[in-house]
Amino acid sequence: MNIILLGPPGAGKGTQAQRLVDNHGMKQLSTGDMLRAAVKNETPTGLKVKAIMEAGELVSDEIVSALISDELASMGPETGAIFDGYPRTAAQAHALDQILEAHGRTLDKVIELEVDEDALVDRITGRFTCASCGTGYHDRHKLPKVEGVCDVCGGTEFKRRPDDNEETVRTRMQEYRSKTAPILPIYEERGIVSRVDGMASMDEVTSSIEALLA
Ligand code: AP5
Repeated sequence: MNIILLGPPGAGKGTQAQRLVDNHGMKQLSTGDMLRAAVKNETPTGLKVKAIMEAGELVSDEIVSALISDELASMGPETGAIFDGYPRTAAQAHALDQILEAHGRTLDKVIELEVDEDALVDRITGRFTCASCGTGYHDRHKLPKVEGVCDVCGGTEFKRRPDDNEETVRTRMQEYRSKTAPILPIYEERGIVSRVDGMASMDEVTSSIEALLA
């Protein structure tokens, strides 16, 4: 199965994609993660996109579609793909159709996480992760059990994304409203869009998604 998780910044796409990976052995294709890795490794792509990402704007369609195409090429045909943060523009949606066709895949579902944007600013500006194992935490909703120590690996270093400040989050929301939300009708016409209440608890959101995939 190949699915898109769609929703504004902080809607829970990454959280739910990770659970689908754990539960179904699917592969998460997060363009945000791929771009952050490129920035960290100072690749030519990373150097090109760093400032754009820090401003909360979208990087070029060509760059992200090439990343997705390369990732799909490295996957076995039996492994399902979860597109997390891609496509984000009409041009990316059309590119994805072509990429999937080239790999003999079809798009089964688009799951939109419906959320309240003001609550998302709180979710995003409070989040941080363990620098060693990547476990996610939140200043107000999910602190480590022992202050300063990761519950999972015992690491003591934590990091925050440079684009997780309120001003940049507002720009990211605006980008979502103006460029990403308008692609939904492309998939609605195909009858493959389902909506899930993204303001429910993480477990409830997971259950709703599981019910759609059953
Ligand atoms: P990207 O990394 O894709 O960021 P995003 O879309 O802004 O999404 P986030 O990762 O912030 O949120 P999420 O929905 O995954 O939520 P999460 O699960 O983390 O993109 C970053 C940048 O890269 C873009 O701004 C752009 O510059 C560039 N880029 C990436 N893809 C691109 C593309 N295709 N085209 C062009 N540019 C691109 O959850 C958020 C927080 O909420 C966490 O703390 C989590 O624990 C918590 N949480 C999750 N679910 C719940 C719940 N149900 N209840 C309570 N808390 C919850």
